[in-house]
Amino acid sequence: MERDQIMPHEMSMKGQTCLITGATNGIGHATALALADKGATVIIVSRNEAKCAQTVESIKGITCNQAIEYMVADLSSQSSIRQLAVRYKSKYDKLDVLINNAGMIFLNHQETVDGIEMTWGLNHLGYFLLTYLLLDTIKASAPARIISVASSAHQPSSILFEDIEYKHRRYNGLGAYAQSKLANIMFTYALARRLEGSGVTANSLHPGAVATGFAANNGVLAKNIGRPLMNVFSISATKGAMTSVYLASAPEVATVTGKYFDKQKPVSSNQFSYDEDAQEKLWDLSLQMTGLAVLA
Ligand SMILES: NC(=O)c1ccc[n+]([C@@H]2O[C@H](COP(=O)([O-])OP(=O)(O)OC[C@H]3O[C@@H](n4cnc5c(N)ncnc54)[C@H](OP(=O)(O)O)[C@@H]3O)[C@@H](O)[C@H]2O)c1
Repeated sequence: MERDQIMPHEMSMKGQTCLITGATNGIGHATALALADKGATVIIVSRNEAKCAQTVESIKGITCNQAIEYMVADLSSQSSIRQLAVRYKSKYDKLDVLINNAGMIFLNHQETVDGIEMTWGLNHLGYFLLTYLLLDTIKASAPARIISVASSAHQPSSILFEDIEYKHRRYNGLGAYAQSKLANIMFTYALARRLEGSGVTANSLHPGAVATGFAANNGVLAKNIGRPLMNVFSISATKGAMTSVYLASAPEVATVTGKYFDKQKPVSSNQFSYDEDAQEKLWDLSLQMTGLAVLA
């Protein structure tokens, strides 16, 4: 990515510390680049150390911002997330913007190292656990913002509490993905309620259909034919990052919380997402599935 591909910016983010997951590729990468260009200290997270190091060097080179660092973590592994939170807190004493972005679709059934269905484990529990563990630091940094990248793919979904992990039904990768993205939105609504009056906002978003590496992990056909074909009809990663960057930096949304955004505007998510009982049930289940229930 070249410097002239970064979105134009008016707002300086100097002095702000931002953590972005899944920032070695696609939307996360473009988001990190834009925030770095605004002068923020940016910490990127992904699984692959070489890709992290290369991404950091590239962002530093393009933006001339030297305050870019990485932390390696597998966000589908709860112990790896716990280690990440400990390492983060030992190194930084504040976090102004957390962007939960690392997410994938798995067309074939897989499990995390914790034995949880992979889509649920990475896309929802990954967001939930990292946010929960960093919440004290984020609150102490208020005003602060928590942003979760969801998707309009949540629209046809509900949370099937009786069988979230597809243990009693045939696995359906698209269904599992839609459910996990709905969970991102409902988690955000429940989180925003808990954060009322704290100076910390929580919002989720749909980035658009974006040309990235998304879904390319699903075999040779997906990687070499499906993904390149989809990319032809998709917006660029820079454009796909716009709503994330807007929510992270724009003064007009500094106090807006508990919303779902598309194209930098609050929009409605599906009807199921507004069921507060279901949001609370999801919160309790997430505490249980991450081993946090005993502490809560
Ligand atoms: N692309 C779209 O059209 C679209 C539409 C709607 C929503 N979204 C959402 O946007 C977000 C970003 O997607 P993208 O399209 O930018 O995807 P992408 O190009 O595939 O990038 C995914 C990023 O996540 C990281 N990642 C994946 N698994 C990880 C793990 N277990 N631990 C740590 N990092 C991990 C990857 O890094 P490593 O492989 O180096 O670990 C990579 O940096 C996702 O939440 C997705 O659901 C995308």
